Amino acid sequence: MPRRTVITGSAAGIGRALADQLRGRGEDVVGVDLRDAEVVADLSTPEGRAAAVAGVRELAGDRVDALVTCAGVAEPSPLMVRINYFGTVGLVTALQPLLAASSAPRVAVIGSISGTMGNDDRVRQACLDGDEEAGVTRAAELTDSGRPHSIYPATKAAVAEWARRTSVSPGWADAGIALNVVAPGVVLTQMTTGLFEDPVMRELMDAAVPMPLNGYAPPEAVAKVLAFLVSEDNTHVTGQVVYVDGGAEVSTRSADLF
Ligand SMILES: NC(=O)c1ccc[n+]([C@@H]2O[C@H](COP(=O)([O-])OP(=O)(O)OC[C@H]3O[C@@H](n4cnc5c(N)ncnc54)[C@H](O)[C@@H]3O)[C@@H](O)[C@H]2O)c1
Repeated sequence: MPRRTVITGSAAGIGRALADQLRGRGEDVVGVDLRDAEVVADLSTPEGRAAAVAGVRELAGDRVDALVTCAGVAEPSPLMVRINYFGTVGLVTALQPLLAASSAPRVAVIGSISGTMGNDDRVRQACLDGDEEAGVTRAAELTDSGRPHSIYPATKAAVAEWARRTSVSPGWADAGIALNVVAPGVVLTQMTTGLFEDPVMRELMDAAVPMPLNGYAPPEAVAKVLAFLVSEDNTHVTGQVVYVDGGAEVSTRSADLF
């Protein structure tokens, strides 16, 4: 029986590249996105997340072999809290029983190199506390006071910390479920197109995220790493943040941090 993988954000960028790769190797993919997907749902709301889970159950039944959460937004706004963190954690948590029914269940969530950078502690903590409205309220304060740029890294840091803690908590590693984070550097998708149009932004981005190994990544490069982490071949990697960043993390953080 082919492996059955659920991919959020499957209509574009990294999610679409992964869907193409998995289908290319004969696997079943159930995509979840705002459009052009098997399950059309809005992961920014609790109702949309519930609809996504119901749609997945309808198509996949009671078993899902893998889940990859690529849905995300980078436009600074409180929506980042709802989609990047709660849209991710809500879906992973709700699909745990279906994953536990697989003989080789695997999950990968998407963080970001920005999760290693300065971020707003109150947004991050509200996410980790599971308090969506507190996170959104704080993000709105940051937006209104002209400091929205600390929201995205806070949501990505929270996703990584949540995944690391959860990976070895009851119901995950002990149920055979591998749970990892892939943290890309700069990837050439619609999310970053605008940054390349502005030479000042591009210079800032290159300084913040230096990528000495092969430069900006195509989405397929990130998808290949995700494809391994959610394959049956990954038997012992869990709780890890895998940077697919051309060397940005090691360039910007201390080499003795590992
Ligand atoms: N592109 C980069 O440089 C980069 C770097 C680091 C991390 N990331 C992360 O990788 C992930 C994928 O990014 P990408 O570059 O492929 O972006 P993308 O914009 O190409 O694709 C994101 C997909 O998510 C979907 N989506 C957005 N909001 C949604 C919602 N409310 N409900 C359901 N689906 C929704 C979009 O419709 C889109 O298909 C994101 O989490 C992003 O934060 C991207």
